[in-house]
Order: sequence, then structure tokens, then C-alpha cells
Amino acid sequence: MGIEYLEGEGLFRLTAQDTEYVIGIGDGKYVGHVYYGKKIEDNRCGYLMRTEEAPFVPSKNLREKCSFADAFPTEYSTWGMGDYRDSCLNVRSSDGCRGCELHYKRYRILEGKPELPGMPATFCRDDGGQGMTLELECRDEVLGLKVILRYSVFEDSAAVIRSVELTNEGDKPLYLERVLTACMDMDMEEGDLLTLGGSWARERHMVRRPLAFGKQMVSSFRGESGHQDHPFLAVMGPNAGQDQGEVYAMHFVYSGNFMAEAEMSQFGSVRLLMGIHPEGFEWVLNPGDTFVTPEVVCVYSDQGLGKMTHIFHDLYRGHLIRSPYLHRKRPILINNWEATYFDFNTEKLLEIAKEAKKRGIEMLVMDDGWFGDRNTDEGSLGDWQVNEKKLPGGLTYLVEQIRALGMEFGIWFEPEMVSPDSNLYRTHPDWAVCIPEREPVQSRAQYVLDLSRPEVVDYVYESVARILRSGPISYVKWDMNRQMSDIGSACLGKEHQGELFHRYILGVYELQKRLTREFPELLLENCASGGARFDPGMLYYSPQIWCSDDTDAIERLAIQEGTSLLYPLCTIGAHVSACPNHIVGRVTPFETRGHVAMAGTFGYELDITKLSQAEKEMVEEQVKMVHRFQPLVQEGDYYRVASWQENHKYDSWQVVSKDKTEALLTYVQVLAQPNWHSRKILLKGLNPNAEYQLELIVQDKTKSGEMEQKFTGKVYKGSLLMYGGILIPRMQGDFTSIMIYLKAKASAPKTN
Ligand code: DGJ
Repeated sequence: MGIEYLEGEGLFRLTAQDTEYVIGIGDGKYVGHVYYGKKIEDNRCGYLMRTEEAPFVPSKNLREKCSFADAFPTEYSTWGMGDYRDSCLNVRSSDGCRGCELHYKRYRILEGKPELPGMPATFCRDDGGQGMTLELECRDEVLGLKVILRYSVFEDSAAVIRSVELTNEGDKPLYLERVLTACMDMDMEEGDLLTLGGSWARERHMVRRPLAFGKQMVSSFRGESGHQDHPFLAVMGPNAGQDQGEVYAMHFVYSGNFMAEAEMSQFGSVRLLMGIHPEGFEWVLNPGDTFVTPEVVCVYSDQGLGKMTHIFHDLYRGHLIRSPYLHRKRPILINNWEATYFDFNTEKLLEIAKEAKKRGIEMLVMDDGWFGDRNTDEGSLGDWQVNEKKLPGGLTYLVEQIRALGMEFGIWFEPEMVSPDSNLYRTHPDWAVCIPEREPVQSRAQYVLDLSRPEVVDYVYESVARILRSGPISYVKWDMNRQMSDIGSACLGKEHQGELFHRYILGVYELQKRLTREFPELLLENCASGGARFDPGMLYYSPQIWCSDDTDAIERLAIQEGTSLLYPLCTIGAHVSACPNHIVGRVTPFETRGHVAMAGTFGYELDITKLSQAEKEMVEEQVKMVHRFQPLVQEGDYYRVASWQENHKYDSWQVVSKDKTEALLTYVQVLAQPNWHSRKILLKGLNPNAEYQLELIVQDKTKSGEMEQKFTGKVYKGSLLMYGGILIPRMQGDFTSIMIYLKAKASAPKTN
């Protein structure tokens, strides 16, 4: 790792493991993008900015400056001064004109990485995760605007992290109409764009399409990162795939509105942009004020998506997740949502808890419906008082009973919301986000609380904290079930209404910061109507996030494939639920449901008292499986072996321990095929020289026997398993799955 200023060349070189990111100063004042990719280690690379060949360099040919601006590979594009590609920054001055041109002034190289005020951000660790930061200071003298472009690298990561700080050093207000975080211009005439998208219950499916001339964008202005798009994009070079080819990716550490765009210009270059969505955004920067953007993580891989995934997983485990649970064993929980929905009471919860305890489950989570008068989703959000009709003796009694069983207790909240039918709304209607004189749009019969107001943040915080202070509560599921609309705040002045979306998210971050500070031992799981706020911003506060309301094992294959492209498996909330599945009505084997949930945090979401005896016994086997393999799943390297989305037949993934002595392969036969022999699967990430002993992991005893004989106890070399493969027998029935554990024999020579 390192950041150097190459004085003779006027270049800045950031080295992050086997990658290099080079920045130059074009024509003496424009901060330009020189290179990003594999290490080149040659200081003479500045010509890549093309300023030498350009006949339009302003210092020599001012009359054609516009042609220069429209082609120069910039690090931070600004609007209105001749660059007609999309910009990062658009500033309106107090006289109403728009236009900004940034000139480079000076640089600073710092040890470590500064925090971002009020926002989640990657951080240095004391135990060897050190970092360095480059600050490039630029100015627009006419506006009196100072802009610092920040780049950080860590010693154990290949990622480059970017953010921007803007300060009004003039004497009149400035209006930021658009402030994105990052721009990256690169030569790429051909390739693909990869994004993640979908809908409620279909979150984060992988979407790959050819890069095309013009602008291709994913975005959200829903006030949340969203079910529909994800704050991520990657461009993939020609022929790039899972394990080969070049990939350039950006991921936004933010939970609100975003845009991510790839723009192919007239000269075949591609500009990647990422930042807060400008729609509905305007920030007033008064003299002396500073605005800091959320950060963007940039990743380059020369070995396809697989290597990109490893870089993201290691960065997030090593430098983003704050929770002490990151490396701790997570409790196996049972959540009552799909078991009872709103129809529960203490007696029912205890009945579930007793059976769960008998089978080895460790925590009961009480979901929506325990407070106010909430027996449907029609009301009571905001009235966070225990409903003693459902829970006689209150939470105290219930928690005592659960703890007496030897289980932990967790609870659901949706703190950011208010129901029109609630005491809170009747008392403080102005606390809801709304536009004066307009009836606010309801969604799930609820409004969004105005978290730009400090008194609302305080109320919300106390509502949650008061309950948590009342007894030994180990876990909180923090839900958020609607998107924002009617963007208006009764508190912000008319010039500041454009700040509401961002101030709202800062309010969410403030709440989660306070919560994790006051209750450092609390296991926090974020959630937003399933996975609408599964993003790196929320991950900073909670080590796991509910991935989707779709708990069907087959639907989850695509959802979890897309999610695990960026997020470590230990962050992905995944539960075994009842069949027919409540969302799609599909019936899948209990064992398959367990295998798929094992690629996540693992828990149950069903009425365990209603399971058959055989299923209850399988729960016991699954609990043993989780205890045995959770550390490997939590800490290991994830490999995508096959994708059902691509082959329409089967899905497979693997987790390999960092030292390559252990691996766990999961294979799901989505659709059975007649008249078909066994299927060859090439394993990944093993030590080619090690001898691995195989073991079939069985929960469904009826499936052992022949299948076990085929695998359990067999020993093969890593090279055979990876290059020759293993043969998975054709299984009878759709949606069947197997899991194979591989353990290296002690004498394995080290791989290089
Ligand atoms: C949406 C969540 O995703 C569900 O798991 C559940 O908690 C419901 N909200 C409760 O309203």
C-alpha cells in the first residue's frame, strides 16, 4: 500500500495490493485520470491523459478550450464549462448562474483515513488494517469554492475509497444542485455493464447488458437505496466473466437516493459516475459551510467477478462493519413473523420458544404487532408501548420466560414511521414528512417521520432505547417499510427543502450510531420491507441485514447470488420458512431450505410447533450443521461455482477457509432432468497440492446411504477436484440439494 507524489512527472500514484490508480494534473491545473488497473510501476504514464497529443490544451490554444474540456479524462467533472458529459458537480451562485471550474492547488498525503462527519465510512483498524489518504485541493476562484478530492487505500485491500469535501470560502451563499462523489473516465469501446436490480421479494438480481453509446443509469429517489436498483455498477471488459477478464466496479456507502451511471461518449471513452441522486436535491452552502459526500468504493479486478467479490467481502469485513458481532458466533434465531403475523400473544410465543429450544434454537425474535393497538398493519406506528392485551405482564414477563428457557430475546421496531392512526400522529401531525396543504401519500398506511428534526430524532431514539433499557434484550430488527414521497419538512426553511432527503438519512445514521453506542452488545439487524436498504451504509451499523421477504429457497438463489456478489455471507439475513412458501406458494424440501439459508446468517421463520416429527429432527440436524460450519461461512472466501440464472438448471457455490484447509460446497438441482447422467462440477479456491477428504452433510436421513457412500470418506487431490471436478449424481425431484464438506489432510504442502 502506498500513496506517492511523483514530483518530476506531476503524478499521484496510489498502490493498493496488485493495483495502481494514477492521477495527473493536466495542463497545469486540471485533475485528470491517468490509469487504473494492474500495477504498471512506470512513472512515465502521464501521456495516457492525452494532453500531449491534444491540439486543444487551453494553455496553448485557448480558443478551443471547449473541445479540451469535453474530452479530458477528469477525476471530478463539473457542469457548465464545456464538458458536456454528465457531471459530478453543479453549483448555482447567489446571482443565479450555474458553472464551475476546478483548478488544482495543492496536495496532502495523510497517514490513516479521516472519518466522514455523521456518515458511515470505511475505517482503519489498529490490528494491521492501516491506511493512507491523498487529498487534492482544488478551487473555483470565482465562486470562492474549495473542493477536496479524497482517496484512501488500506494495506490489506485492493480497493480505492473516494469522497469529496466542499467548503464555501466566499462571502455569498452557494447552492449545490448536484454533488456526486466520484467520476472515472476510461477508454473502453466494448464491454458490458453489470448492475443489480429487481423489486420487492426479487431484490438484487444480476443484470448484465452491453455497454452502449449514451447514458445507462440505475438510481433511486425513493429515499432509500431501494428494492429496485442497487447503488452499484461494474463495467466488464470484453469476455470478462466469473474468473477472467477486467472489471471496474463502484459501490456507494450510502442508504438514500443515489445514481450510478455509465456514459459512453463520442470518443469511445466511458465515464462512470456515482453519488447522491440530484433529483430533489439542493444544498445551501453558506459562507464558511462545508458539505461532505458519502464515499464510493472503487474496485478493479483482472480476474473477473470472483476476484472483485473477494475484494468487496474482505474490505467490508475488515474495514466497514463496526459491530462486535462481525467475528462472533451469531445466535440461531426463530422469528414469529411468518409463523403468526399479527396474531400472537405471550402464550403462543412461549409455545414456539419451547419447541425451538428443544431443537437447539437459541433466540426468539418477536416481530411486528407487539405495541399500541397493532393487530393489522393499519395503525399504531409511533406508539411504542407494549400491548398488554397480547402480552399480559408486559415485556418483562415474556423476556423473563424466554430467558428462563435458556434462550435470548429479540424484538422488532419500525422507528422511522408513523401511522395516521396513532397517538403520535394525532399529537404531532407536523412530524410527518409532508407538503403543506397536500394530503400526504400513504404507503402501507403509514407516513415517514421527519428525521431532519432533532426533536423527532430524540423521540424516536428514546422510544427504542426505553424498551431496550427495560430488560435483557439481545437483538433488534430495525425495519422500514415504505419509500419517501411528499418531500417537505415543516421545520426546514423554504431554501432548505432540497436538503430533506439527505438530512433524513443523516437522521437514520444518527439514530443507529446512538443505539450502537448505548447498547454495544446489541445484535442489530437492519431491514426495509425485505431488502430495500441492504447497502454498505447500513452495514456499517448492523453486521447483518434482512435480505428479502422472499424466503422461498429457489427465489433466494438469485437474490443471494446478487447479494453475495458484494456482501459477505455473514451479512445476509436468511431463514428457513414454511411450505408452501408464503410468497410464491412453492414447495421445496426442508433440507434445501436449510442449505440455502446456510449461505447467510441462518434462522427460522415458521411455526415450529406445526412441523412434522421428521422436520423437527431435521431442525436439530441443521442446528448442528450451523454450529459446525458457521465460522467457515463467516470468515471464508466465497466462490460462485455455477449460476441457475445463467444455466436454468442448477446453482452452486462454495466457501473456502482462508488457509484452504476446509471448504463447503453447496449444489442445488433446481430442475430435475430425465435421462441425464451425473453433472461435473469444478471446485474452486482449493490448494491444488492438498489431499481433501470429502463428507456429505446430511440432514434428511432418507437421503443418506448411496449418496453418502459416493462421497463420504473419499480423498482426492485439490488439483483433481478443481480441474477434473466431482460428479454430482442426478437427484430425483426438483429443488433438491446436497452439501459436501472438504477437509485437507494435515500433511498438505502449502500452495504458493
Ligand atoms: C417487513 C419485513 O421485511 C418482514 O420481515 C416483517 O418484519 C414485516 N415488515 C413486519 O411488518
